[in-house]
Amino acid sequence: MKTLIDTDGKRLEKLADKCHGKKDALISLLQDIQLENNWLSQQVLRGVAEKLNIPLTEVYGVATFFKAFSLKPRGRHIVTACVGTACHVRGAPRLVDELRNILKIAPGETTPDKIFTLETVNCLGACALGPVVVIDGVYHGQATRSKVRMLIEEIRKLETRKRKTNHDKAKKQPSS
Ligand code: FES
Repeated sequence: MKTLIDTDGKRLEKLADKCHGKKDALISLLQDIQLENNWLSQQVLRGVAEKLNIPLTEVYGVATFFKAFSLKPRGRHIVTACVGTACHVRGAPRLVDELRNILKIAPGETTPDKIFTLETVNCLGACALGPVVVIDGVYHGQATRSKVRMLIEEIRKLETRKRKTNHDKAKKQPSS
């Protein structure tokens, strides 16, 4: 799937211009792109190397060093289930199974429609609330199977509504 910055070279140019071509702006440029696209494609990394006039290996070095950057496509919504010890004993494995069933993907994967990415981590630092599932940065403590099912359903409904609104808007726009 093409992403905004892949398809619109001007967007990358604008972001890169903010950096005035400075090498030390590499991290902040990659952060901007990661925020916008949810991942860093090969094409984008090449574009960044060109714009900042630095070797591609250097760009890759930074992109692979920081965990915040993803070189794989990620969904618009990130679902993270904690499988650390405290959460494990409180039912995390059943929650992960439920999430696998609902999303039809394994941890580390993204749904084909690029809406969800499922991840697991070993501790989210909120053990007393276990089992914990974080969806788009929001912590859900004492998570249950029905609760995560409901939360995912809500996001799906929102996404469907958004798609419909965009579709209606596109239909209303006069063709040139
Ligand atoms: S083990 Fe799950 S939050 Fe610590």
